[in-house]
Amino acid sequence: MALTGKARKGAFHKADGLAGRLLAWYDAHHRDLPWRVPPSALAKGVRPDPYHVWLSEIMLQQTTVEAVKPYFRKFLDKWPEVTDLAAAEPEDVMKAWAGLGYYSRARNLKKCADLVAALPGSRFPNDETGLRELPGIGAYTAAAIAAIAFGRKAVVIDGNVERVMSRLFEIRTPLPDSKPEIRALLGELVPDERSGDFAQAMMDLGATVCTPKRPRCMLCPVREDCRAVLAGDPELLPVRGEKADKPRRRGAAYVAVRSDGAILLRTRPEKGLLGGMSEVPTTGWTARIDGETSVKSAPFPADWRRAGSISHVFTHFELELDVYRAEVKGATALAGHWWSPIAAIHDEALPTVMKKVIESAIPGATKRRH
Ligand code: ADE
Repeated sequence: MALTGKARKGAFHKADGLAGRLLAWYDAHHRDLPWRVPPSALAKGVRPDPYHVWLSEIMLQQTTVEAVKPYFRKFLDKWPEVTDLAAAEPEDVMKAWAGLGYYSRARNLKKCADLVAALPGSRFPNDETGLRELPGIGAYTAAAIAAIAFGRKAVVIDGNVERVMSRLFEIRTPLPDSKPEIRALLGELVPDERSGDFAQAMMDLGATVCTPKRPRCMLCPVREDCRAVLAGDPELLPVRGEKADKPRRRGAAYVAVRSDGAILLRTRPEKGLLGGMSEVPTTGWTARIDGETSVKSAPFPADWRRAGSISHVFTHFELELDVYRAEVKGATALAGHWWSPIAAIHDEALPTVMKKVIESAIPGATKRRH
């Protein structure tokens, strides 16, 4: 390593020590996750499967590790290889994804699988530049896959890593303004070897020790390097810029139940929020708090009865839906709608907001396996 000047030399020595301590901690305390090859196996030459790494990283965008685990297993059961996913019907992929949220991820997942399956050997590109060209793979995901699947030296920054770095270096500039500083500092810390384990060690430290509230600093392998610990207020970092309150929207949803228990569903438009997912008929979700939420807006006349209301938080707004239910005798067939038998509800591509609506009208309907 070419070292120039004392300050630089000092910084590198410290970085080596810090990364080393973090990796030693990871060896002993890493989380066992279904998509992860543990350090002991990596040391024996087991290589991570890029398909597994990619699938998990796409699922983990905006979603917790616990929520992702069953979906990851289900996808691998159904589609063990990227070529299997490429051969799947898009509709089946959407159904398998239902409940994970942020459905554009599922559409991009399928597009990405199609492209990768057509590459030589159906292999993923093995560096950040190649990975970034694929649908659904942004800067974070490309860096994570390059490091974890291919051992590339990459700067991998998610929310956990931002918190750990803000504390380690006592960065008091609010996020997101501090992002460039975090990136520059982390770039100095990433080791030449084991960069995938280093990235995951940072994530695990953030998830299990350097937690948002009440960090467990006594268990931290790098507390002696942590400037926030020295300052005495790690839990106050990172500072975040003021967030505006989310706007609230309202609407109504109509659960029509046929005499055999089937429910009337339709498909949302391909483009836009929850694009291509299934739903019961609903009004528009207006930006106004006094949106059209009465029986007058029902898709057809019937004995609509109030069946509660539900709320759901989306990225950019909070939604409250009044739920109505009606028993429908003759099977009214509306264009573009279908009757989903009660036994099939579980397998429909219903986003969580719609599962809440149906549960409100028919308790247990989306949970039962009939
Ligand atoms: N969050 C996103 N990617 C992750 C990973 N590989 N391990 C743990 N948490 C994660």
